[in-house]
Amino acid sequence: MNSSGSDRTTIISAERIEADIEAIAALSETPVEAGHNRPTFGAAWARARDYLVAQATAAGCVHRTDAAGNIHIRHASHPWTERVWLSGSHIDSVPSGGKYDGVMGVVVPLEILRSYPALPLELVVFAEEEGTTFGVGMLGSRGWAGEFGPDVLGAIRNADGRSFLEAGAPFGVDAAKLALPPGKRDPGDRIDRDSYVGLVEVHPEQGLSLWRLGCSVAAVDRIAGRRQYSVTLTGQENHAGSTGMLGRRDALAGAAELVVELETLGLELDGTVPGTVLTVGSLTATPGAINVIAGSTTLTIDFRSSDPDLLDRGSDRIRETATRVAYDRGLECAIEATEEIPPRPMSADICERLTAAAASLGVEMKTVTSGALHDAAVVSPYLPTAMIFVASRDGISHNPDEFSRIEDVALAARILATMIETECGIAHGRQDREPAV
Ligand code: HGY
Ligand code: MN
Ligand code: MN
Repeated sequence: MNSSGSDRTTIISAERIEADIEAIAALSETPVEAGHNRPTFGAAWARARDYLVAQATAAGCVHRTDAAGNIHIRHASHPWTERVWLSGSHIDSVPSGGKYDGVMGVVVPLEILRSYPALPLELVVFAEEEGTTFGVGMLGSRGWAGEFGPDVLGAIRNADGRSFLEAGAPFGVDAAKLALPPGKRDPGDRIDRDSYVGLVEVHPEQGLSLWRLGCSVAAVDRIAGRRQYSVTLTGQENHAGSTGMLGRRDALAGAAELVVELETLGLELDGTVPGTVLTVGSLTATPGAINVIAGSTTLTIDFRSSDPDLLDRGSDRIRETATRVAYDRGLECAIEATEEIPPRPMSADICERLTAAAASLGVEMKTVTSGALHDAAVVSPYLPTAMIFVASRDGISHNPDEFSRIEDVALAARILATMIETECGIAHGRQDREPAV
């Protein structure tokens, strides 16, 4: 018996968690060595969703999908009207991802629902967290929070040209319901402080610090902010053989110079506020032919920092750099800001409760900042929110080599369960199940 909780959290099974992770990994589109690919609302995503629902149903759970396409699962003994804790993440992946990103944060609450149904807990599977299917991230959580309405979700399209509303309709996305005014809306279709005590998202750290320090888990007290851009440079398409080197307006050479300049800016800003990062993740050249000077290029910029002022200053520097490089080369430059999310503090109260729960299990849990973004960042202005990070081997993620130790994942599950049972008094045999917070 640990000091604050029952020993019931020992029934949480690392083996079942591992079986869930492996089962979902096996449902991905690409062969394992090429990484795991589960684009939102695609066949592999639907298979993973169906697996989760089947496992939960077999464990006596019920489920529903909200109008933004997020799946909610709880044990049938907890009516939808009961105020409960929320825990979840995503099952969509980047194109060549790993087994653990998102999936970890879904199978942990699944295992708790399966092994500890008395806990007032609801699993949520957020739709399109990564943003690599529709080009903008955290669509499901932002739709549930009311930040993105049917107008925005109807304009954001996947590579097939289908909007989030169209592609999501077979999976419960409902434009009409999303458009309903508060008085007429189904309560479950909008995040609601009265329905949930708070959210805890379990997630791989996707960074080096825990693995290097030999720590299994950590509480996350802050999530870095993110600015994303699409930059288009326009020059003059021309013949590679008959156009002299002087006077070219080569949009690909200009993009190449800009990529290196942005990397240098990122290193400078990291020196100002450690952990600040600036990435050009994609670059396309048009027409992209071996014997044609590129007339235009489009590159994407992903800029993150835990410091809001640096995000502002860095954004100005990004614009200056792109404008200068383009001007010097006689190129036109169009910069479109595609996303702006401020740094998000997590709930200090929940972090303390998680740290106390870990201590009751004999684990001293550190607190870290998340460089990666998560649905928890979207939810945090509406519900008390925190995260539990699990160590990532060598800090690798968004990569088939992503790995976390299952015993560390099971530990995160036990910490979460212990925190909830302590807050609800279940560990002490109290009859009330209304959470204390
Ligand atoms: O980009 C991110 O931070 C997350 O993996 N979607
Ligand atoms: Mn993730
Ligand atoms: Mn990710």
